[in-house]
Amino acid sequence: MAYRPDRREFLKTLGAAGAILMSSSWLPGFGFARAQGPVGRVVIDQARYRSHLDRRLLGSFLEHLGRAIYTGVYQPDSPLADKLGFRTDVIDEVRELGVPIIRYPGGNFVSGYNWLDGVGPKDERPTVLERAWNSLETNQFGTNEFMDWCKRVGTEPLLGFNLGTGTPEDAVALVEYCNVDRRTKWSELRRSHGYDEPHNVRYWCLGNEMDGPWQMGHMPAREYGRKARDTARQIRTIDDSLQLIACGSSNTILPTYLTWDREVLEECYDQVDGISLHNYYGNTEALTGNDPARYLAMNLDMERQIQEIGAVCDYVQGTLKSGKRLWLSFDEWNVWYRARSGDHVDGERQFAPPLLEEDYNLEDALLVGGFLNTLLRRSDRVRVGCLAQIVNVIAPLVTNDQSVLRQTIYYPYAWALQYARGRVLDPLLESETYRIHAADLRPDFARNDDVPYLDAAVTLDRERGDATVFVLNRDLDGERELIVEWADPVPQRVTACKTLTGDDLKAVNTFDNPRRVVPEPLEAPRPGRTMALKVPPASYSILNVAIT
Ligand code: AHR
Repeated sequence: MAYRPDRREFLKTLGAAGAILMSSSWLPGFGFARAQGPVGRVVIDQARYRSHLDRRLLGSFLEHLGRAIYTGVYQPDSPLADKLGFRTDVIDEVRELGVPIIRYPGGNFVSGYNWLDGVGPKDERPTVLERAWNSLETNQFGTNEFMDWCKRVGTEPLLGFNLGTGTPEDAVALVEYCNVDRRTKWSELRRSHGYDEPHNVRYWCLGNEMDGPWQMGHMPAREYGRKARDTARQIRTIDDSLQLIACGSSNTILPTYLTWDREVLEECYDQVDGISLHNYYGNTEALTGNDPARYLAMNLDMERQIQEIGAVCDYVQGTLKSGKRLWLSFDEWNVWYRARSGDHVDGERQFAPPLLEEDYNLEDALLVGGFLNTLLRRSDRVRVGCLAQIVNVIAPLVTNDQSVLRQTIYYPYAWALQYARGRVLDPLLESETYRIHAADLRPDFARNDDVPYLDAAVTLDRERGDATVFVLNRDLDGERELIVEWADPVPQRVTACKTLTGDDLKAVNTFDNPRRVVPEPLEAPRPGRTMALKVPPASYSILNVAIT
């Protein structure tokens, strides 16, 4: 007999839950329904999908900051370096991860960067005082080295322009340097530097966080919008097909949040393809009341930000009667709150000082899993995403002179890269909820709301013949069961079932104890139309199945 998941019953629940939740801010919009008791349910049907996943959603970021480039990526005097001076252990890790796109060279750094300082003979490159992080920049690593490194790790570059202290002229020259074949001033300069073939960079950021008062060259929205438009228009004479990303709001707390995006887009909508959004999260008194349960709901704040910025794009599209729909580039996101002030952000004019070296614990990794679920669920709108950053600076990978360490957040990121392919499905999800409270929290995170204990995302790759369910269990005290109902297709076999969990939410990996927090096998449910997956308290898990 053909299987029919009990959709009517499910939709009834959704309707009822919708009524209950009308007064709350986020759940109905995210397709969750409230269930009673510890058993949740996810209904999967490959006909219901959000997107054909653009893998750029799972990118990362590398900035000239602290030890990210120097001693992270580039360390010519290390026994681990190759003949170009690149750390081979880091290359191996990034290549194994399979990061699809990496944003470079900043970040705040880019807004004071003269790209010409970083090309040409190395012994002629100047050492400069880098003003974003008050550090010494030797320029021994620059655009061409980054392109070489991208090839070695198998990633695509996403380059940023300096629209802070830099001019449209500088930006257009960089595009010409990178992408024009030959016979022009800047393309011939590249060739004279030993790079005969153009780099063909397709994705470009029109500056960084220009809404932020901390940004070099910070300016009002309309002024930036006009500068971005002028830059983009000139670039399009070189190549109209390049994908150009305007700077959107860099967080949700600035008073200009959303107004900035609207005004910028009103100035440059016709010339750009996407708009950026950034956010960093933390388990602090102001953001969560130091409450891990509130902390593990922060991916829903990210989800809301995506909806709000998407709504602004659509508003501007509507008012301009434009046929073009912008996509979003969430090109900086991560947990970052411990190494965020004082010595952690002041390089004191040193070369490669240890800045923003955040030690990630188990609860951070679970939330990163939640962020990845959110990005997948919103992949119909967010095309590019960058985990900020990749090595040493707020990063999944950390180096010392001998080796490279995988921090806790490495694991959910690695799973997304390994398993999320093909279609991102739009499952119906039912889960018991818990209450969170606004009192005393920073306004952009102050919500009285209901949060589902179980959070899931599902991908299905017909070519590879597999599907994956990614599950965050926010219940800190109890195991939860997720009934996975497969309307279509039907799993034939379980190919992987594992979890990241532990009894200490604050546990971290260190060079002395690098395997304190690592994935462990999870009891695999029997394959079939209905599978009962038991997930431990405070865990992030994946179930990968082979499909016909
Ligand atoms: O990623 C660290 C910094 O955070 C970046 O330089 C900046 O863009 C953001 O504020």
